[in-house]
Amino acid sequence: MKRMFILLTMAGFIVLPVHAEITAKQTEVMKQLLVSYGEKAVEEAKNKKSKAAQNQTSFTVAAGREFYLQRRSWQENDFTCSGCHTEDPRKEGKHIETKKPIKPLAPSVNPERFTDVKKVEKNFTEHCYDLHDRDCRAYEKANFLTYLMSVK
Ligand code: HEC
Repeated sequence: MKRMFILLTMAGFIVLPVHAEITAKQTEVMKQLLVSYGEKAVEEAKNKKSKAAQNQTSFTVAAGREFYLQRRSWQENDFTCSGCHTEDPRKEGKHIETKKPIKPLAPSVNPERFTDVKKVEKNFTEHCYDLHDRDCRAYEKANFLTYLMSVK
């Protein structure tokens, strides 16, 4: 009985998630992005770039999650960020066209994500064009990052 308990304890230890922490590097990169998107969002609000942008200078987990899950149904292909990255960004995704696996987006489970400002910006812009035919607004990116940082 005692040995069984020890074995179970060991097994339990082994299956614990390997990463559930956002690394210092990721925190640095995401904070840097948040500051620059925050500044851009203030500009967008001032320039009244869009009606939605006018009041968007503070960012929330809920708005970021909504952005991530929102369907763009006016598009020919009715898909969302989560279409490829799954509704749970801690899970491995799958490209809807190529079917290739995509490593999880959540920094808490994938220490390689959000370690390079340029890479993040490039992916952001490309995927926003895929879905919206335009780049996303700074406040949308800031909300989305706020959401992803909260996913543990
Ligand atoms: C058609 C499939 C697809 C859709 C839709 C999609 N992505 Fe991606 N995304 C990918 C692929 C593929 C990668 C790169 C995978 C890799 O580097 O391992 C990626 C990577 C990223 C990264 C890079 C993070 C990093 O530093 O490595 C970000 C940010 C991102 N996506 C955000 C989004 C957002 C926001 C949306 C919705 C507006 C979105 N994606 C929609 C396929 C998609």
